[in-house]
Amino acid sequence: MRDIHREISEWLRHLGATVRIDAVGNLRALYPSGHASAPCLLIGSHLDTVPNAGAFDGVLGVVLAVALLQGLDGRRLPYAVEVVGFSEEEGVRFGVPFIGSRGLVGRVDVQLLETRDERGVSLREAIAAFGLNLSELADAEVRDNVFGYLEFHIEQGPVLENLGLPLAVVEAISGQSRLDLTFAGRANHAGTTPMDLRFDSVAGAAEWITTVEREARAVPGLVATVGSVETRPGATNVIAAETRVTLDVRHREDAVRMREVETLTNCAREVARRRGLSVNCSSRMAQKTVAMDPFLGAQIEEAIRKIGCKPHRMSSGAGHDAMILAEKVPSAMIFLRSPGGISHDPAETVAVEDVEKAIECGLHLLEQLASAPEFLTRTCRA
Ligand code: GLV
Ligand code: MN
Ligand code: MN
Repeated sequence: MRDIHREISEWLRHLGATVRIDAVGNLRALYPSGHASAPCLLIGSHLDTVPNAGAFDGVLGVVLAVALLQGLDGRRLPYAVEVVGFSEEEGVRFGVPFIGSRGLVGRVDVQLLETRDERGVSLREAIAAFGLNLSELADAEVRDNVFGYLEFHIEQGPVLENLGLPLAVVEAISGQSRLDLTFAGRANHAGTTPMDLRFDSVAGAAEWITTVEREARAVPGLVATVGSVETRPGATNVIAAETRVTLDVRHREDAVRMREVETLTNCAREVARRRGLSVNCSSRMAQKTVAMDPFLGAQIEEAIRKIGCKPHRMSSGAGHDAMILAEKVPSAMIFLRSPGGISHDPAETVAVEDVEKAIECGLHLLEQLASAPEFLTRTCRA
Protein backbone atom coordinates (compact mmCIF):
# COMPACT_ATOMS: atom_id res chain seq x y z
CA MET A 1 0.00 0.00 0.00
CA ARG A 2 2.87 2.32 0.81
CA ASP A 3 4.40 1.68 -2.63
CA ILE A 4 1.18 2.42 -4.51
CA HIS A 5 0.60 5.54 -2.40
CA ARG A 6 4.06 6.75 -3.37
CA GLU A 7 3.61 6.00 -7.07
CA ILE A 8 0.14 7.50 -7.50
CA SER A 9 0.92 10.51 -5.28
CA GLU A 10 3.78 11.40 -7.58
CA TRP A 11 1.52 11.32 -10.67
CA LEU A 12 -1.05 13.47 -8.90
CA ARG A 13 1.44 16.04 -7.63
CA HIS A 14 2.69 16.51 -11.19
CA LEU A 15 -0.90 17.31 -12.20
CA GLY A 16 -1.17 20.09 -9.60
CA ALA A 17 -2.95 18.21 -6.81
CA THR A 18 -2.13 18.40 -3.10
CA VAL A 19 -1.79 14.88 -1.73
CA ARG A 20 -2.20 13.50 1.77
CA ILE A 21 -2.89 10.12 3.38
CA ASP A 22 -5.80 10.44 5.82
CA ALA A 23 -6.07 8.76 9.22
CA VAL A 24 -7.66 5.58 7.77
CA GLY A 25 -5.00 5.19 5.09
CA ASN A 26 -6.94 6.65 2.14
CA LEU A 27 -4.97 8.58 -0.46
CA ARG A 28 -6.58 12.02 -0.88
CA ALA A 29 -5.50 14.35 -3.69
CA LEU A 30 -7.15 17.74 -4.02
CA TYR A 31 -7.16 19.43 -7.42
CA PRO A 32 -8.44 22.88 -6.54
CA SER A 33 -10.97 24.94 -8.43
CA GLY A 34 -10.45 28.55 -9.45
CA HIS A 35 -12.62 29.68 -6.48
CA ALA A 36 -11.90 29.11 -2.81
CA SER A 37 -15.54 28.39 -1.84
CA ALA A 38 -16.28 26.10 -4.79
CA PRO A 39 -18.05 22.76 -4.41
CA CYS A 40 -16.04 19.57 -4.69
CA LEU A 41 -16.49 16.35 -6.66
CA LEU A 42 -14.84 13.19 -5.33
CA ILE A 43 -13.62 10.66 -7.89
CA GLY A 44 -12.10 7.41 -6.73
CA SER A 45 -12.12 3.73 -5.98
CA HIS A 46 -10.06 1.37 -3.81
CA LEU A 47 -6.35 0.54 -3.86
CA ASP A 48 -6.47 -2.73 -1.90
CA THR A 49 -7.43 -6.04 -3.44
CA VAL A 50 -8.11 -9.73 -2.73
CA PRO A 51 -5.54 -12.56 -2.53
CA ASN A 52 -4.47 -13.83 -5.97
CA ALA A 53 -6.34 -10.91 -7.51
CA GLY A 54 -6.60 -9.44 -10.97
CA ALA A 55 -5.01 -6.10 -11.81
CA PHE A 56 -8.10 -3.91 -12.23
CA ASP A 57 -10.64 -4.35 -9.43
CA GLY A 58 -10.35 -1.06 -7.62
CA VAL A 59 -7.13 0.48 -8.83
CA LEU A 60 -8.47 1.06 -12.36
CA GLY A 61 -10.99 3.53 -10.92
CA VAL A 62 -8.21 5.48 -9.21
CA VAL A 63 -6.01 5.48 -12.32
CA LEU A 64 -9.00 6.68 -14.38
CA ALA A 65 -9.47 9.57 -11.94
CA VAL A 66 -5.80 10.48 -12.47
CA ALA A 67 -6.31 10.22 -16.25
CA LEU A 68 -9.26 12.63 -16.04
CA LEU A 69 -7.14 15.21 -14.22
CA GLN A 70 -4.48 14.69 -16.86
CA GLY A 71 -7.15 15.21 -19.54
CA LEU A 72 -7.96 18.61 -18.02
CA ASP A 73 -4.45 19.64 -19.02
CA GLY A 74 -4.06 22.13 -16.18
CA ARG A 75 -7.47 23.72 -16.70
CA ARG A 76 -9.47 24.54 -13.53
CA LEU A 77 -13.14 23.71 -13.21
CA PRO A 78 -15.77 25.72 -11.31
CA TYR A 79 -15.55 22.95 -8.73
CA ALA A 80 -12.62 21.21 -7.05
CA VAL A 81 -11.90 17.54 -7.76
CA GLU A 82 -10.62 15.29 -5.01
CA VAL A 83 -9.15 11.96 -6.14
CA VAL A 84 -9.58 9.27 -3.49
CA GLY A 85 -7.74 5.94 -3.36
CA PHE A 86 -9.56 4.03 -0.63
CA SER A 87 -7.88 1.60 1.74
CA GLU A 88 -9.36 -1.75 2.85
CA GLU A 89 -12.44 -1.95 0.63
CA GLU A 90 -12.37 -5.73 0.22
CA GLY A 91 -12.29 -6.65 3.89
CA VAL A 92 -9.55 -9.26 3.44
CA ARG A 93 -7.47 -8.50 6.52
CA PHE A 94 -10.12 -7.66 9.14
CA GLY A 95 -13.13 -9.46 7.65
CA VAL A 96 -14.87 -6.07 7.45
CA PRO A 97 -15.00 -4.27 4.08
CA PHE A 98 -15.20 -0.52 3.31
CA ILE A 99 -12.95 0.56 6.18
CA GLY A 100 -11.43 3.44 4.18
CA SER A 101 -14.75 4.78 2.91
CA ARG A 102 -16.28 4.52 6.37
CA GLY A 103 -13.66 7.08 7.39
CA LEU A 104 -15.18 9.60 4.96
CA VAL A 105 -18.68 9.25 6.40
CA GLY A 106 -17.63 9.26 10.06
CA ARG A 107 -18.28 5.58 10.71
CA VAL A 108 -14.93 4.39 12.02
CA ASP A 109 -16.20 3.65 15.52
CA VAL A 110 -14.70 1.93 18.56
CA GLN A 111 -16.18 -1.44 17.58
CA LEU A 112 -14.53 -1.26 14.15
CA LEU A 113 -11.21 -0.12 15.65
CA GLU A 114 -11.22 -3.11 18.01
CA THR A 115 -11.79 -5.61 15.16
CA ARG A 116 -8.81 -7.96 14.96
CA ASP A 117 -7.08 -9.69 12.08
CA GLU A 118 -6.03 -13.37 12.01
CA ARG A 119 -2.93 -12.59 14.07
CA GLY A 120 -4.88 -10.71 16.72
CA VAL A 121 -3.75 -7.25 15.59
CA SER A 122 -6.54 -4.70 16.01
CA LEU A 123 -7.44 -2.16 13.33
CA ARG A 124 -6.41 0.55 15.81
CA GLU A 125 -2.95 -1.05 16.14
CA ALA A 126 -2.60 -1.55 12.38
CA ILE A 127 -3.41 2.11 11.73
CA ALA A 128 -0.78 3.22 14.24
CA ALA A 129 1.78 0.73 12.85
CA PHE A 130 1.28 2.22 9.37
CA GLY A 131 2.29 5.57 10.88
CA LEU A 132 -1.16 7.16 10.83
CA ASN A 133 -2.71 9.21 13.59
CA LEU A 134 -6.22 8.32 14.71
CA SER A 135 -6.62 11.67 16.44
CA GLU A 136 -6.92 13.09 12.90
CA LEU A 137 -9.93 10.90 12.09
CA ALA A 138 -12.28 13.89 11.83
CA ASP A 139 -10.13 15.31 9.00
CA ALA A 140 -10.87 12.21 6.94
CA GLU A 141 -14.60 13.04 6.82
CA VAL A 142 -16.09 14.67 3.74
CA ARG A 143 -16.59 18.41 4.10
CA ASP A 144 -19.91 20.20 3.54
CA ASN A 145 -18.88 21.35 0.07
CA VAL A 146 -18.65 17.78 -1.33
CA PHE A 147 -21.65 17.39 -3.62
CA GLY A 148 -20.82 14.26 -5.55
CA TYR A 149 -18.85 11.03 -5.61
CA LEU A 150 -18.04 9.27 -8.86
CA GLU A 151 -16.52 5.79 -9.16
CA PHE A 152 -15.35 3.97 -12.29
CA HIS A 153 -15.08 0.19 -11.86
CA ILE A 154 -14.93 -2.94 -13.97
CA GLU A 155 -18.31 -4.65 -14.06
CA GLN A 156 -16.87 -7.94 -12.70
CA GLY A 157 -19.62 -9.85 -14.50
CA PRO A 158 -20.77 -10.84 -17.99
CA VAL A 159 -23.68 -8.43 -18.62
CA LEU A 160 -21.98 -5.73 -20.72
CA GLU A 161 -20.00 -8.28 -22.71
CA ASN A 162 -23.22 -10.11 -23.58
CA LEU A 163 -24.86 -6.86 -24.64
CA GLY A 164 -21.80 -5.81 -26.67
CA LEU A 165 -21.58 -2.51 -24.77
CA PRO A 166 -18.50 -0.88 -23.22
CA LEU A 167 -20.05 1.16 -20.37
CA ALA A 168 -23.01 1.15 -18.01
CA VAL A 169 -24.61 3.43 -15.44
CA VAL A 170 -25.05 1.76 -12.05
CA GLU A 171 -28.51 2.31 -10.54
CA ALA A 172 -28.11 0.47 -7.26
CA ILE A 173 -25.62 -1.65 -5.33
CA SER A 174 -26.91 -4.82 -3.68
CA GLY A 175 -26.70 -5.18 0.07
CA GLN A 176 -24.48 -7.78 1.68
CA SER A 177 -24.00 -9.56 4.99
CA ARG A 178 -20.77 -11.14 6.13
CA LEU A 179 -20.57 -13.60 9.02
CA ASP A 180 -18.09 -15.87 10.80
CA LEU A 181 -19.25 -19.30 11.96
CA THR A 182 -17.24 -21.59 14.16
CA PHE A 183 -18.27 -25.24 14.42
CA ALA A 184 -16.77 -26.86 17.52
CA GLY A 185 -16.48 -30.61 18.16
CA ARG A 186 -13.85 -32.75 19.84
CA ALA A 187 -10.32 -33.43 18.63
CA ASN A 188 -9.35 -37.06 18.57
CA HIS A 189 -7.16 -39.63 16.87
CA ALA A 190 -8.02 -40.28 13.21
CA GLY A 191 -7.00 -43.95 13.43
CA THR A 192 -8.55 -45.03 16.71
CA THR A 193 -11.89 -43.19 16.89
CA PRO A 194 -14.77 -45.15 15.31
CA MET A 195 -16.91 -43.17 12.87
CA ASP A 196 -20.01 -43.26 15.07
CA LEU A 197 -18.16 -41.92 18.12
CA ARG A 198 -16.78 -38.76 16.54
CA PHE A 199 -17.67 -35.10 16.96
CA ASP A 200 -16.11 -33.92 13.73
CA SER A 201 -16.38 -30.16 13.23
CA VAL A 202 -15.26 -30.40 9.58
CA ALA A 203 -17.99 -32.89 8.66
CA GLY A 204 -20.61 -30.65 10.33
CA ALA A 205 -19.35 -27.55 8.51
CA ALA A 206 -19.23 -29.46 5.21
CA GLU A 207 -22.83 -30.62 5.57
CA TRP A 208 -23.92 -27.06 6.29
CA ILE A 209 -21.92 -25.65 3.34
CA THR A 210 -23.78 -27.85 0.86
CA THR A 211 -27.07 -26.63 2.39
CA VAL A 212 -25.95 -23.03 1.85
CA GLU A 213 -25.43 -23.76 -1.84
CA ARG A 214 -28.78 -25.55 -2.14
CA GLU A 215 -30.67 -22.72 -0.43
CA ALA A 216 -29.02 -20.01 -2.55
CA ARG A 217 -29.85 -21.90 -5.74
CA ALA A 218 -33.48 -22.16 -4.65
CA VAL A 219 -34.03 -18.46 -3.92
CA PRO A 220 -34.12 -16.25 -7.04
CA GLY A 221 -31.46 -13.54 -7.00
CA LEU A 222 -29.76 -14.85 -3.87
CA VAL A 223 -26.00 -15.45 -3.81
CA ALA A 224 -24.36 -17.06 -0.80
CA THR A 225 -20.69 -17.96 -0.55
CA VAL A 226 -18.50 -19.80 1.92
CA GLY A 227 -15.14 -18.45 0.76
CA SER A 228 -12.88 -19.46 3.60
CA VAL A 229 -12.66 -22.66 5.64
CA GLU A 230 -10.10 -23.17 8.37
CA THR A 231 -9.69 -26.25 10.51
CA ARG A 232 -7.93 -26.54 13.86
CA PRO A 233 -5.56 -28.06 14.63
CA GLY A 234 -5.47 -28.83 10.90
CA ALA A 235 -3.50 -32.09 10.70
CA THR A 236 -4.13 -35.13 8.48
CA ASN A 237 -4.41 -37.55 11.39
CA VAL A 238 -6.45 -35.41 13.81
CA ILE A 239 -10.24 -35.04 13.82
CA ALA A 240 -10.55 -31.26 13.81
CA ALA A 241 -11.84 -29.78 17.05
CA GLU A 242 -12.83 -26.54 15.38
CA THR A 243 -13.79 -25.40 11.88
CA ARG A 244 -14.13 -21.73 11.15
CA VAL A 245 -15.97 -20.68 8.00
CA THR A 246 -17.03 -17.37 6.53
CA LEU A 247 -20.42 -16.64 4.98
CA ASP A 248 -21.19 -13.90 2.44
CA VAL A 249 -24.89 -13.38 1.56
CA ARG A 250 -26.22 -10.89 -1.01
CA HIS A 251 -29.59 -9.96 -2.50
CA ARG A 252 -31.03 -6.85 -4.10
CA GLU A 253 -33.84 -6.86 -1.52
CA ASP A 254 -32.67 -6.31 2.05
CA ALA A 255 -35.64 -8.22 3.50
CA VAL A 256 -34.73 -11.34 1.50
CA ARG A 257 -31.06 -11.07 2.50
CA MET A 258 -31.92 -10.72 6.19
CA ARG A 259 -34.41 -13.59 6.08
CA GLU A 260 -31.82 -15.83 4.39
CA VAL A 261 -29.10 -14.98 6.92
CA GLU A 262 -31.56 -16.11 9.58
CA THR A 263 -32.43 -19.30 7.67
CA LEU A 264 -28.78 -20.21 7.05
CA THR A 265 -27.64 -19.59 10.63
CA ASN A 266 -30.62 -21.58 11.98
CA CYS A 267 -29.65 -24.35 9.63
CA ALA A 268 -26.05 -24.30 11.00
CA ARG A 269 -27.45 -24.63 14.53
CA GLU A 270 -29.65 -27.55 13.49
CA VAL A 271 -26.73 -29.39 11.81
CA ALA A 272 -24.53 -28.79 14.87
CA ARG A 273 -27.24 -29.98 17.30
CA ARG A 274 -27.86 -33.17 15.34
CA ARG A 275 -24.14 -33.99 15.28
CA GLY A 276 -23.43 -33.15 18.94
CA LEU A 277 -21.37 -30.11 17.94
CA SER A 278 -21.77 -26.47 18.88
CA VAL A 279 -21.74 -23.53 16.52
CA ASN A 280 -21.13 -19.86 17.11
CA CYS A 281 -22.44 -17.41 14.49
CA SER A 282 -21.24 -13.82 14.56
CA SER A 283 -22.02 -10.99 12.17
CA ARG A 284 -19.04 -9.10 10.76
CA MET A 285 -21.05 -6.68 8.69
CA ALA A 286 -24.51 -6.00 7.29
CA GLN A 287 -24.84 -3.41 4.55
CA LYS A 288 -28.15 -2.38 2.97
CA THR A 289 -28.82 -2.09 -0.76
CA VAL A 290 -28.08 1.48 -1.83
CA ALA A 291 -29.52 3.50 -4.72
CA MET A 292 -27.19 5.69 -6.73
CA ASP A 293 -27.97 9.40 -7.31
CA PRO A 294 -30.53 9.88 -10.15
CA PHE A 295 -29.16 13.30 -11.20
CA LEU A 296 -25.58 12.04 -11.59
CA GLY A 297 -26.90 8.85 -13.25
CA ALA A 298 -28.72 10.93 -15.88
CA GLN A 299 -25.57 13.02 -16.45
CA ILE A 300 -23.52 9.83 -16.95
CA GLU A 301 -26.10 8.55 -19.45
CA GLU A 302 -25.80 11.78 -21.40
CA ALA A 303 -21.98 11.55 -21.38
CA ILE A 304 -22.12 7.93 -22.62
CA ARG A 305 -24.43 9.01 -25.47
CA LYS A 306 -22.01 11.81 -26.38
CA ILE A 307 -19.28 9.27 -27.09
CA GLY A 308 -21.65 7.39 -29.40
CA CYS A 309 -22.50 4.50 -27.08
CA LYS A 310 -25.76 3.18 -25.73
CA PRO A 311 -26.00 3.70 -21.96
CA HIS A 312 -27.11 0.54 -20.24
CA ARG A 313 -28.50 0.75 -16.70
CA MET A 314 -27.80 -2.05 -14.27
CA SER A 315 -27.41 -2.86 -10.60
CA SER A 316 -24.19 -4.10 -9.01
CA GLY A 317 -23.91 -7.42 -7.22
CA ALA A 318 -20.42 -6.49 -6.01
CA GLY A 319 -20.03 -4.05 -3.15
CA HIS A 320 -18.32 -0.72 -3.75
CA ASP A 321 -17.14 2.28 -1.72
CA ALA A 322 -19.92 4.23 -3.49
CA MET A 323 -22.48 2.45 -1.30
CA ILE A 324 -20.83 3.90 1.80
CA LEU A 325 -20.23 7.38 0.36
CA ALA A 326 -23.92 7.50 -0.66
CA GLU A 327 -24.82 7.87 3.03
CA LYS A 328 -23.53 11.45 2.90
CA VAL A 329 -22.85 12.35 -0.72
CA PRO A 330 -24.88 11.87 -3.93
CA SER A 331 -22.94 8.99 -5.49
CA ALA A 332 -22.73 7.42 -8.93
CA MET A 333 -20.84 4.65 -10.68
CA ILE A 334 -19.79 3.83 -14.22
CA PHE A 335 -19.06 0.20 -15.08
CA LEU A 336 -16.57 -0.84 -17.75
CA ARG A 337 -17.14 -4.14 -19.58
CA SER A 338 -15.27 -7.12 -18.03
CA PRO A 339 -14.03 -9.44 -20.80
CA GLY A 340 -14.97 -13.02 -19.89
CA GLY A 341 -16.97 -11.66 -16.94
CA ILE A 342 -14.11 -12.68 -14.63
CA SER A 343 -13.00 -10.91 -11.47
CA HIS A 344 -11.23 -11.62 -8.17
CA ASP A 345 -8.86 -13.77 -10.23
CA PRO A 346 -5.68 -13.05 -12.24
CA ALA A 347 -7.72 -13.60 -15.46
CA GLU A 348 -9.61 -10.35 -14.71
CA THR A 349 -9.06 -7.86 -17.53
CA VAL A 350 -10.37 -4.82 -19.39
CA ALA A 351 -10.14 -3.66 -23.02
CA VAL A 352 -7.90 -0.66 -23.79
CA GLU A 353 -10.64 0.75 -26.09
CA ASP A 354 -13.15 0.59 -23.23
CA VAL A 355 -10.75 2.45 -20.94
CA GLU A 356 -10.36 5.11 -23.64
CA LYS A 357 -14.15 5.39 -23.86
CA ALA A 358 -14.40 5.69 -20.08
CA ILE A 359 -11.92 8.58 -20.10
CA GLU A 360 -13.76 10.28 -22.94
CA CYS A 361 -17.08 9.81 -21.15
CA GLY A 362 -15.58 11.08 -17.86
CA LEU A 363 -14.27 14.25 -19.51
CA HIS A 364 -17.72 14.97 -20.99
CA LEU A 365 -19.21 14.41 -17.56
CA LEU A 366 -16.79 16.88 -15.93
CA GLU A 367 -17.75 19.48 -18.57
CA GLN A 368 -21.48 18.83 -18.11
CA LEU A 369 -21.20 19.27 -14.34
CA ALA A 370 -19.23 22.51 -14.85
CA SER A 371 -22.31 24.04 -16.45
CA ALA A 372 -25.01 22.29 -14.41
CA PRO A 373 -26.57 24.65 -11.85
CA GLU A 374 -28.20 21.60 -10.18
CA PHE A 375 -24.67 20.41 -9.36
CA LEU A 376 -22.88 23.69 -8.68
CA THR A 377 -25.53 25.06 -6.37
CA ARG A 378 -26.53 21.85 -4.66
CA THR A 379 -27.17 22.87 -1.08
CA CYS A 380 -27.88 19.58 0.56
CA ARG A 381 -26.10 16.30 0.60
CA ALA A 382 -27.68 12.86 0.36
C1 GLV B 1 -16.02 -6.44 -3.33
O1 GLV B 1 -15.29 -6.88 -4.21
C2 GLV B 1 -17.13 -7.26 -2.93
O2 GLV B 1 -16.88 -8.24 -2.21
O3 GLV B 1 -18.24 -7.02 -3.39
MN1 MN C 1 -13.29 -6.72 -5.26
MN1 MN D 1 -13.79 -3.37 -6.26
